[in-house]
Formats: sequence, C-alpha cells, structure tokens
Amino acid sequence: MRSVALGLSMLAVSAGMASAAGKLNLYCSAQEEWCQVMARGFEDATGIDVDMTRKSSGETFAQVKAEEANPKGDVWWGGTGDPHLQAAEEGLTEPYVSPMRGELHPWAISQAESAGDRTIGIYSGGLGFGYNSDLLAANGLPEPKCWEDLTKPEFKGHVQMANPNSSGTAYTTLATMVQLFGEDGGFDYMKRLHANINQYTKSGSAPIKAAGQGETTVGIVFMHDAVAQTVAGFPVVTVAPCEGTGYEIGSMSIIAGARNMDEAKQFYDWALSADAQNLALGVNAFQVMSNVAAQKSEFAPDLSAVKLIDYDFKKYGSSDERKRLLEKWDNDVSTLPQ
Ligand code: F6P
Repeated sequence: MRSVALGLSMLAVSAGMASAAGKLNLYCSAQEEWCQVMARGFEDATGIDVDMTRKSSGETFAQVKAEEANPKGDVWWGGTGDPHLQAAEEGLTEPYVSPMRGELHPWAISQAESAGDRTIGIYSGGLGFGYNSDLLAANGLPEPKCWEDLTKPEFKGHVQMANPNSSGTAYTTLATMVQLFGEDGGFDYMKRLHANINQYTKSGSAPIKAAGQGETTVGIVFMHDAVAQTVAGFPVVTVAPCEGTGYEIGSMSIIAGARNMDEAKQFYDWALSADAQNLALGVNAFQVMSNVAAQKSEFAPDLSAVKLIDYDFKKYGSSDERKRLLEKWDNDVSTLPQ
C-alpha cells in the first residue's frame, strides 16, 4: 500500500515536472523507429513531453494545410524536402535561423536559404530500388540494374512503389523520371511502370519491407531503406539505377502559429546537433546526416559513387509544380488498366 502511494506521488511529481518543462507536438515523416528515438531523446535531454505522430510526407503536408487556421502540430521533422518547400511557399511554416546552422553541410543550409528560412535540411538520401534475391531467382528473373528494366514484361506484378500523393519517396520518383527523361518521356515511363505495379502503398518504405517479407520482388524506395532491410537480415539487394537517379534532402520545419513555439525552437536546435543525429545509428537509419560532425554508418549508401541528377528542388518543391505533377499522375497514370 505504502509503495503504491509512494509510486503515485512520484508520478505526480514527474508529471508536474514535465508540464513545467512544457510540451511539444511533433509531426514526424521519417521511419517510425527513428521518430520514436527522436521523441524520447528530446524528452530525456530537456524534460519536455513529446506527443509524436508519424505520417508520410505528403500526408503530413495535407494535415498541416488542413490545420492552417488552428495549428495542432509544433514541429514537422523528417520527410522529403519537396512538401516542406511547398509548405514554406504557402506560409504554413515559420521562419527560424538556428544558432546551430554553422555546424551543417552546405546542402542543408541552401535548403533553408531557398525557402526564406522556413525549413532546413536534416539528412539526404538517394533514390533507387531493392529486390528480394530469393524471389528473383525463384521467378527466373534477370537482375534489374536500370529503371528501364522494371518496365519489362517479365516484371509484371513484381514491382511495388508508394502513391506519390501520400508519399514523398514516390513523389521524388515521379519528379526524378520527369527530370531524367523529360516531361513526356517521364510520364511515358510512369505509364509503362504502372503496368507492372502490384500495389501502390501509402508509405514510401513499405514496398521494400514487403520485398524483405517476400511479398513483392522489387520495391522502389530510397536506397537507405533497402540497405536497412539487408542489415536486418532479409535477402534484399540495393540497386543504384544505371540511368542515374534523384535524391532527397529530408527536412524539418516549425509550423506557423505553433502553440509551443519556444519548445519547437528548442527541438529544432537539438535536432541539428551531432548528438541528436547520431541517434539514427541505433535504429538502422542510414541517411547522410546534415551535421558535419555526425557519424556515418559503414552501411550508408555511398552517394559519391551514385550517378545523381542535379535535382531541381526549387521547381519540384514549388506549390504549382507539385500540384500539377500529382494531378497529371492521378489523371493520366493511376487510372490506366493494369
Ligand atoms: O524511411 C525513411 C524515409 O525514406 C526518409 O528518408 C524519407 O524522408 C521518408 O522515409 C519518406 O517517407 P514517405 O515516402 O512515406 O513520405
């Protein structure tokens, strides 16, 4: 009885401490495990209570937009940069210049500069695909090395990707094809690929998790998500496509009108520190971090060995272009028979 009473009063003390230290509503669009360690890591570092919600990049953008008049989130951490840039352009996020900025790679800072300081780069990663080598062999399929290989008739029903409306990974795929092959060539590619797609998922990394489980042969994803499956022990091989590929600058933004603005800025500064970014290593998040002093995993894909396109973030992260491409994909690609 005594220990129950003691337990309850300790709970009251710690609850009181937490509310004195404040709270933070975190919208997270990176992988769930990483979102969890970032939320818990910040609580441990500051005593601030974190309420975290994980949704894909496009979904979080839609939520922040829907809540514009009555914001419920304070910080949006993670997810591809394009919808963060669109949010910045639409005034949904708050300008902030962190004292931590000097510790970052130039690509992270230029993301901020191109958006009037309403967002900033926290990691980067290259797009590619991964395949389940057991399933590939069982189906007698040739090793795919190029984007073009995924449209071959023998891959019908073997390829999975996310829906570009909900997923930043899939929007990056669409924008990459348009940049690699031109507007007509890119949409022609997406149509031919559509004929081979077995499912469009909501989340970007779901297709490679499905490949790991043997539910699809190929998943179009960021290469770091494919490598994570291999490291977890699944027979997944990561491919950097031969034609070249796009990449993301995973980003962070403070939501305009955040109710917990001080805590939001505290999180923002902390999330840019090398210590916070090193938490990624414990959850097999193999992106390249934006703090120059953050550690790099030996498993992280070597982007300097990948043929990366000069991805035009300004154009493909602009409100008009993102809306236009998504509408065109909805009308011209997703409605085609398979
Ligand atoms: O799984 C991690 C990750 O690939 C991040 O690198 C990326 O920013 C995010 O997921 C994109 O997720 P989604 O495609 O679901 O928006």
